[in-house]
Amino acid sequence: MEDQLRSIVDRAHEAARTASDVAALAAVESSFLGKKGELTLLLRGLGALPKEERPAFGKLVNEAKVRLEELLADRSRDLESVALEAALGGDGFDPTEPGLEVSHGSLHPITQITRELVRVFEGLGFAAARGPEVEFEHFNFDALNIPASHPARDTQDTFWLSDGNLLRTHTSPVQVRAMERFGAPLRVIAPGRCFRNEAVDATHEHTFYQMEGLMIDRDISVANLIHVMKTCLREILGREVRIRLRPGFFPFVEPGFELDVHDPFGTGEDRWLELLPCGMVHPNVLRAGGLDPEEWTGFAFGLGLQRLVMIRYGITDIRDFTGGDLRFLEQFGRV
Ligand code: DAH
Repeated sequence: MEDQLRSIVDRAHEAARTASDVAALAAVESSFLGKKGELTLLLRGLGALPKEERPAFGKLVNEAKVRLEELLADRSRDLESVALEAALGGDGFDPTEPGLEVSHGSLHPITQITRELVRVFEGLGFAAARGPEVEFEHFNFDALNIPASHPARDTQDTFWLSDGNLLRTHTSPVQVRAMERFGAPLRVIAPGRCFRNEAVDATHEHTFYQMEGLMIDRDISVANLIHVMKTCLREILGREVRIRLRPGFFPFVEPGFELDVHDPFGTGEDRWLELLPCGMVHPNVLRAGGLDPEEWTGFAFGLGLQRLVMIRYGITDIRDFTGGDLRFLEQFGRV
């Protein structure tokens, strides 16, 4: 009977190795391992052996069975991949591969910070307003206490249009527009794009983003300004920050300040970084907006949005924002 087993195993292995497709392999399986398969019958014929030989021979047949099953499984895998290759026409296209991932865009970091700021300031009772990018000289300069003769005009290199209007050089014109439109009391922010005829380098852009803030009420003081700025920075930078005010000159505020942040990158360094200009709204500006400076006071600030994002992420070149390089933009996550 052992000869018989050896012969069955030899033929079964040979048949499995030479089966040319999955169907042929299935036939091999059934003729050796099926109900009436040769190995099955052999096992069943065990009873014809003397009792003491049965266990040893039974073991041999079972081992042969397991080996044959493994061989059949291996061959089946091989034949399936051959069949797949053939079905693919050999052009390398594999319909079973996962598809290419559709790449999603993400919001520009300036858009993201704008949305965050709007959310923070709305929480403080401010409304978001928008002003035009093509602006009248009146709102951009005169109403902000910057008459034509004023040297401050020279510090804002302006793109003048042929009709005498201009591309706004800052978001401050929205201050007077908002006062005229809504009166006082007033809490408004105005994010948007501004333009200056600047030589571009790592810290200067001809197109940049600001967010103007304006709060007008009775008895508004520098304390209100400090509180609002600290709250805003805590939300945006995700930690408590120390700030300080230094005197700064802007014709539309009196007094005017430069606001500095301590340890701007949160690394523990003992350093102050200039973050934004601000001040108490100049009486002439209140008057230009139709408000009585005896009755109303207010503060204003002009936040450079690129600068804020640069501080937040440690970005060193302002040109990255408009450079269109996906390697830069993709770092700001999906939306
Ligand atoms: N508009 C000014 C600029 O772009 C910045 C500024 C300074 C805005 C002081 C303000 C302010 O509201 O109070 O240079």
